[in-house]
Formats: sequence, structure tokens, C-alpha cells
Amino acid sequence: MAFNQVRLRGGHILLAYNGRVTSAMVHRVPQSRDRGGERHASSANSQNTSANRLKWLALGSAAAIGAGLYLKYKSSQNVVSAATTVHAPAIQGGPGSMRSDLPLFTENQVSLHNSRQNGIWVTFKNGVYDITEYVAQHPGGSKIMMGAGKSIEPFWDLYGVHKNPEILHILEKHRIGNIVLVEDKSKGKTNDPYANDPKRSPVLIPSSSRPFNGEPPTTILVDNYITPNELFFVRNHLPVPKVDANKYKLEMAVDKSSVKLNLSDLKSKFKAKSVTSVVQCAGNRRSEMTKIKQVKGLNWNNAAISNATWTGVTLNDLLKHSGIDLEKVECQHVQFEGMDKGPEGAPYGASIPIDLARSLKDDIIIAYEMNGKDIPLDHGYPVRVIIPGVVGARQVKWLTRIVMSDEESLCHWQRKDYKGFNSSIDWHNVDFDKSVAIQQLPITSAICDPPEGTELEEGAEEVTLKGYAWSGGGRGVVRVDVSADGGQTWQEAELQSNNQPAYKSWAWTLWEATIPLPKDHKGKVDLVCKAVDVSYNVQPDNVDGVWNLRGVLNNAWHRVSVSVPPEEQS
Ligand code: MTE
Repeated sequence: MAFNQVRLRGGHILLAYNGRVTSAMVHRVPQSRDRGGERHASSANSQNTSANRLKWLALGSAAAIGAGLYLKYKSSQNVVSAATTVHAPAIQGGPGSMRSDLPLFTENQVSLHNSRQNGIWVTFKNGVYDITEYVAQHPGGSKIMMGAGKSIEPFWDLYGVHKNPEILHILEKHRIGNIVLVEDKSKGKTNDPYANDPKRSPVLIPSSSRPFNGEPPTTILVDNYITPNELFFVRNHLPVPKVDANKYKLEMAVDKSSVKLNLSDLKSKFKAKSVTSVVQCAGNRRSEMTKIKQVKGLNWNNAAISNATWTGVTLNDLLKHSGIDLEKVECQHVQFEGMDKGPEGAPYGASIPIDLARSLKDDIIIAYEMNGKDIPLDHGYPVRVIIPGVVGARQVKWLTRIVMSDEESLCHWQRKDYKGFNSSIDWHNVDFDKSVAIQQLPITSAICDPPEGTELEEGAEEVTLKGYAWSGGGRGVVRVDVSADGGQTWQEAELQSNNQPAYKSWAWTLWEATIPLPKDHKGKVDLVCKAVDVSYNVQPDNVDGVWNLRGVLNNAWHRVSVSVPPEEQS
């Protein structure tokens, strides 16, 4: 494989196709290494152990990049080889700086090394490192694996670990090469429908790239009660629209009349209100349904859910301003329309029944801020609707029209998607018109740490679980039960207090529990959690019973399988 243009991360080297510069070739992935999942610190000092692992990954300042480096790359079986020489700017030393004695790797090559089986590679600045041996010798800290196959810089940014020359020195010992970035030729093309898509945090794990959908690693998700904007999961059905905030208008329409407001009207003419509220995709945890029988949809793990504080104008105030009385208006549905459009020109849209709008009244927010900042482009800049307790699909981003109507939104995602069915309905006998659109979501919870496949410490006798619980309709979480024996015996988790009113709990509840492992575990332990809400709704015990063709509404007990290696006899 030859590249048209190759750029060194953070540097200025261009490798042209022919002539005196070079082409680069991708070689095979190294053969399997030892099998097994991540290791997880299971005792009280697990936090420290994780922190130490992370510290190891903490690296210091970037390499200084100068002028006049002459690179001559050796061919090698498992690495990028270069056919000719490269003239490039000189680079002074420093961790992660270019090394002329080492080969080049593409991001794609590095990404293949994301497991113990294929080897664990990470990048820092221009450096590529093989840390497989290090991870094998220093187990613990599932977070170390989150950088596997990619740059570890975003993870350090997250945890703000200090630079440590000792750590940098150790890391540099594992140096195997230099990273190159292959230029994406489609970017910047005017006819590319995805040209407006923003840069995303590489921490997000994509479930699709065009349109972009991604969720954070679960262990990071529960580090924060308020999900930082850059870690909030992203669910886009269409390309991100081109937005000019100066020209932005929100239209409110009832009958034949309509009122339009611009962004500064929204910010200056109304009292601002904030609500801390979860957005959860109906397809959260779809991957568990797929294991039973194939379903249609993105293969979400359990982090298609996040929690933020949204600030804006209440729908009620906006309607009043437009001469509409929410209590009296004669209509059946409130429709919301976004600015993002499909190839046929139809925008994303959704609606909620007027009775639901009335019951939520001042808690429905036409939001322009997310966690105190302008809403990021991926999450609906400049304005989106937040409808607490309701499925994410109705919380329309890039909001441009609100219509009081007798009809539900005609949009595909309202009428022909985001509906539930029993497990005997499949694509040959489904009738979407017969089922009601999902609105308020059922009680759910999930174990986020340790993640599936974690290897606990040798001879571990207990495990610490962390997760979230949340119920739609504002029903507060009153209990989370956890089990280390597949659900035969239970213990109550400790709920992180969040002072939410029992019947207006729009935000999630984070929880934690340290529980003993069964004495007869034979090296494998089945962790389970289930939550109970204030109406005593509880999660169903298995996915089979809630399986449906679209893979939505999976709120079954959440199960995570971990292993415990026996203690080595000395
Ligand atoms: N609004 C628009 N305009 N376009 C979309 O694709 N996706 C919906 C909803 N609002 C969507 C939208 C879905 S299915 C979900 S789950 C949430 O946005 C996700 O919000 P987030 O991307 O901010 O997490």
C-alpha cells in the first residue's frame, strides 16, 4: 500500500508518492500473544494501583520540531518500510519526538494492536510504543487498556497526571517507531455531506463514523456525575448541519401563525433555567440483544447514556411569549424539527404528546448551554430541546421549529423507528403503526467498572463495582442490588446522594459496592446489577424476554463476566 501524502503527527514531514521522498507499506500484524482480558484491582487499594498504572502513562512535554532531518528507514518484517529516503525537518530529542533510527507506522496499523493477543501499542506525540510486556508484568488498572491501539494523550488530559521524567524514561524504552498520519482526502471537499462534522475526542469509542456515533469507555463514564461535554455520548442519524449562529432562528408555529426568535432573543428576553438531566439512547446496551439474535441498529455497549446540566428557556415561557397557553392550546402533539437533513431533504424530527408536555411543563428546556458552555456542535449547537425523563430520540438537536399540531411528527424516527415490540415480531411481520412511540424510559442500571472480560488480581476475594442507575419519567432510584454469583444472592450498593426530588429525578444515580467473591468461583465470576425505582419498578432478569427487532429498551439485569487467576504458589 502506498500513500499519496503522509504527515508526521505534530510535525511537518510530507512523504510524496515518488521521487526523492517515499512510499510506505503496511505489513502484517504480529502473531498472537497471551490471551486474556484486562486486569482489575479488586481490593481497597485498587484506586492506588490504577493511579500508579496511569502515572506510568504520564509523559511530559512534546518534542521540539526543527529543520533538516534526514531519515533513512530500514525495511523490517513487521513494520512500515520506506522505499526511499525522506528529507524532513530536524527534531531535537525529547519524549515522543521523531527518531530517525525507527520505522514509521500508520494510525491504522497502531489501531490493530489493541489487545494482549495482538500486542498493545500506544502513541505519544510522534512516538509508537509497544507496552505489551509492560502490561503483562504490571497488571491492574483497566484504564491502561483504554489507550490501547491509539494515542494515550487524551487519557492523560482527562486525568491530569503530572509529567514525570522517570515515567517518560521507562516509556521510551518501549519505543518501536514513529507515527504518521495519512491525510483524509475527502475532508474539506465541498460536496462532502460530513464536511461540517466537528473534531471529536478520540476517547469516544465510535459505533459508526459517518454519521458519527460514539460512546465513552464505561470506566470513564462513571468517573463523573456530570458527564464532561467531550465525553458525552454522540448519537447522530445524519451529517452535522452547517450552523451560522448569527442567522439562527427558532420558529414557533401553531395553526397558521408563527413567531420567530433569534439566539440573542432566547438569551435576553427570557429567564434562564437549568435542569440536570440524562440523555439515553433507546438502543443503549443493544450489543447484548445482538448476542441473542441479530437486531438492526448500532452495536451500543452500555454507555449510550450521559448526564449533563442544560440551561435555556422553558418551553412554557417560549409558548407564552408566542401567545400559546400550554394548558389550553388545542392540539395533541408538540413537534420538534432539527436542521440536519437527509439526502431527500427531510429534516430529523420528533414529537411528544401534549399531555406529556403539560406534565413536564417548566422542566422542558429549549437549551443553549450544556454544562455552562455553548452546546457543542455534536450535541445540537446552538439550540436543542431537553425533555427530562424521555428517550434521547425526542430531544431534537439543532432545533429550528416547534409546531403545535394534531399530528405526531411525520418523521421516520417518530413513526417507523424507536418503538417496542415483543420478541416474536421480526421484520417479516412488523407493523410500526401498531406500536406507540417510545417516550418515558424504563428503570435501568449497568455495571461500568469493571468492564466485561476483566481479569481481577490473582487470588482476589472481593470486587468493587461502580455503575449508574436511572429511570424515565423522573422516578427516582431507591435501590441498586448487586450480586457476584449470577443473581443468586444480592447486596445493596451505596447510592451517591444527589438530592433529587423522588418524582422529579431527571439525573442519574451513580453507585458503588464492594462485595465478596463466592468461595467456589473456579476462576470465573458473574457480576450482576439491577435497580429499583420509587414506583418499585425493577429490571427484568434476562434479555431474552425484552428482545425486539430494533434492539431498543434493553433494561435487563446487567451482567459482567470477570475472571480471577489462582494465586501463584511460591
Ligand atoms: N436530533 C437531531 N436533530 N438529529 C439526530 O440525529 N438524534 C437523537 C437525539 N436528537 C438526533 C437528534 C437521538 S436518537 C439521541 S439518543 C439523542 O439526540 C442523542 O443526543 P446526543 O448526541 O447529544 O447524545
